[in-house]
Amino acid sequence: MIIATTIEDVRCAVRAWKQEGLTVGLVPTMGYLHEGHASLVDAAVASCDRVVTSDFVNPTQFAPGEDLESYPRDFDHDCALLEEHGCDLVFYPSVDEMYPDGGGTTDTYVEILNNMPKQLCGKTRPIHFRGVCTVVSKLFNIVTPDKAFFGQKDAQQLAVIRKMVRDLLYGIEIVGCPIVREADGLAKSSRNTYLNPEERKAALVLSQAVRLGESMVAEGEANADEVVRAMTELIQAEPLARIDYVEAVDGVTMENVSVVKAPTLFAMAVYIGTTRLIDNFSVEA
Ligand code: PAJ
Repeated sequence: MIIATTIEDVRCAVRAWKQEGLTVGLVPTMGYLHEGHASLVDAAVASCDRVVTSDFVNPTQFAPGEDLESYPRDFDHDCALLEEHGCDLVFYPSVDEMYPDGGGTTDTYVEILNNMPKQLCGKTRPIHFRGVCTVVSKLFNIVTPDKAFFGQKDAQQLAVIRKMVRDLLYGIEIVGCPIVREADGLAKSSRNTYLNPEERKAALVLSQAVRLGESMVAEGEANADEVVRAMTELIQAEPLARIDYVEAVDGVTMENVSVVKAPTLFAMAVYIGTTRLIDNFSVEA
């Protein structure tokens, strides 16, 4: 596996692959990789000739006071996992490599101006998706992949990226991959490492709420507000949990819906202690 820290080294490797007629898949990550990330690499390996994974904690998607400084990092572990899953190149740039003005600041952003990035996570993280779109655009410009792989775990992010790709005419196929969970149901997340043992137990309310919502929909509940209400009640019964949001939205536009109809997305963000966790499920056609 090639370890590239400069944009030039990535471009050079990709140029050589493309000259051979090989297809390239990109898996953007912020590192501290787990089996959720690995599932994206597996999907990329299965459908592309060469796979690039980026490992970069992107400063522009964190607001002051969020966990940019404390975000967990372990590059050696990341490399071992990527190597094991057949990744061909890991891109591990410095902040200054990605933001040439220095200090992780930029004068040029990619920002979706409609309501989409203001919904759900955007309510409490107003600059988050602007930072995500900006860094993912940069990665697309560097790697020029045929396909890019994102997890359903971050369903709003996936929808925002699909919209950006459509609006900016990136000829890149966006592949959404299912949520990978721990054996007890908790969605895998780099931030799970923040939880102490008591909080780790309490965090199960998120996946329990997902299961409750899914079973209500499976049994024919068509009133989205009823599903949200039941999920909310379940979470509120856990003393360590504080709800940021539990909502039903259209899976493409992120606008609120009150009738369950594919593609409805039920999404939540819940603080367990000081750790903010997300989970969701989609109602597919
Ligand atoms: P990060 O949180 O590291 O996640 C990288 C990718 O892994 C995302 O597409 C995310 O949805 C996916 N992922 C994380 N946990 C998952 C799980 N349990 N199951 C399936 N997929 C999972 O998302 C980001 O980084 C950043 O915002 C990024 C897109 C890299 C831009 O900086």
